[in-house]
Amino acid sequence: GITRHYKFNIQMQNVTRLCQTKNIVTVNGKFPGPRIIAREGDRLVIKVVNNVQHNVTIHWHGVRQLRSGWADGPAYITQCPIQRGQSYVYNFTIIGQRGTLFWHAHISWLRVTLYGPIVILPKKGVAYPFPQPFKEVPILFGEWWKADTEKIINQALQTGGPPNISDAYTINGLPGLLYNCSAKDTFKLKVKPGKTYLLRVVNAALNDELFFSIANHNLTVVEVDAVYVKPFNTNIILITPGQTTNILLKTKHFHPNATFLMSARPYATGPASFDNSTTTGILEYHKPSNNTKKSNIFPLLKPKLPIFNDTTFATSFVKKIRSLANAKFPANVPKKVDKQFFFTVGLGLNPCPKNQTCQGPNNTKLAASVNNVSFVQPNVALLQSHYFNQSKGVYTTDFPVNPPFKFNYTGNPPNNSFVTSGTKVVMLPFNTSVELVMQDTSIISAESHPLHLHGFNFFVVGQGFGNYNSSNDPANFNLVDPAERNTVGVPSGGWVAIRFLADNPGVWFMHCHLEVHTSWGLKMVWMVNDGKSPKQKLPPPPADLPKC
Ligand code: C2O
Repeated sequence: GITRHYKFNIQMQNVTRLCQTKNIVTVNGKFPGPRIIAREGDRLVIKVVNNVQHNVTIHWHGVRQLRSGWADGPAYITQCPIQRGQSYVYNFTIIGQRGTLFWHAHISWLRVTLYGPIVILPKKGVAYPFPQPFKEVPILFGEWWKADTEKIINQALQTGGPPNISDAYTINGLPGLLYNCSAKDTFKLKVKPGKTYLLRVVNAALNDELFFSIANHNLTVVEVDAVYVKPFNTNIILITPGQTTNILLKTKHFHPNATFLMSARPYATGPASFDNSTTTGILEYHKPSNNTKKSNIFPLLKPKLPIFNDTTFATSFVKKIRSLANAKFPANVPKKVDKQFFFTVGLGLNPCPKNQTCQGPNNTKLAASVNNVSFVQPNVALLQSHYFNQSKGVYTTDFPVNPPFKFNYTGNPPNNSFVTSGTKVVMLPFNTSVELVMQDTSIISAESHPLHLHGFNFFVVGQGFGNYNSSNDPANFNLVDPAERNTVGVPSGGWVAIRFLADNPGVWFMHCHLEVHTSWGLKMVWMVNDGKSPKQKLPPPPADLPKC
């Protein structure tokens, strides 16, 4: 591979959406941010210079960071933030991955405007396992708030209530023509008839899983989270925050001047406080020659999207996602398991601090947890503490392997749903084969949680509704061609089982990719020890690693 250099200047920029101008944090003044492009095997050297008042870190979401954990990016997990006037060079190699991923800020809610696509092409001379597309187009979903999102989340954390929902969803930063004053701010994809386009779809929205569809067009899913899948056709895709999906779009043969709408709107199973609006883009066919007139034969067609709580569609869509699992792209599902974990994930409540009024139910504070532990972000970076053996006063290694108390997760929640707080981690010896079952607790409400694991891809070997049954359910696990990914939706009122091999030494964050749940504590940390050989050890930190 070759080395590719990028420079990310973090700078403020005025951007107008929904009739209001806002000063937002950007990379190089662009919104969404610049595209990173590389081939499998290339080294990326990205210098991030912080020129704004906010502390910043950038995460290369889904990049495995094999023995390059110092470049992973989550604030206070693998690095201290880059402060104003400082810079940090993220230096890593793309090993064994090709497809679509994305980068985003990984501190507070800054990723609302700091995100962009990562396109990893196959090695030179290596073809896709599907027809070579005529053109490739990134499609990034996002969310737009008129107000300052940092203020919104800080206020929510202080009052203990839910934060304001966004004012619009966006496609490539544009809300689209269904929103006020947004006719001009509509993403337009101009296509030629009879061609195949590869749409690299990224859900960079903060808090909502989304349905996406293009009127009158079939989509073929060929890859998720930068792993090829067995191609399947669908009219609609479902994508959670943190996931990426590559789809082939075959354009029709004779549609001069025709326009079709593409839309995305949320799949939401939780409380009704979500933005049920729709973001829209336009698929526009080029006229085949100069003398065709604008025809009215094909009116603007809208795609049909499922209703917001269509769990039947969601379940059947997710079931279709299977690894290629062929000789060229095998599915290396760990067959034996060294360590089993059972994590409950969900919302909970904390007592309201004295002399404060909280906006949660019965004057409580909303919290979220894994096994009833609401993760507390330390003041120093965990990877440094781990690397230099300085855990004292920073973290403890007693993260519970099982929930502290079991109950019927689908029935009435127990009265005591209070969570404990702490910076607790799980230690894993190098090369431990892990099986993890995550169960949605429905304590406040049943909700699907997109769980994202840093540093690894995992295999989604099973999922179901109701309570996970450890004596029956494993018999139905798919160890042949399960989806391999970095973010999985734990179904609302159900569970998901994943397996991964802990072959990447370092400190790896795992959290719900709904930013509001992360803020409330739905996050935890795996620490993977070095192996014996030099190839199994994490190298020392780079000299410019920021200090806290
Ligand atoms: Cu895309 Cu830890 O995040």
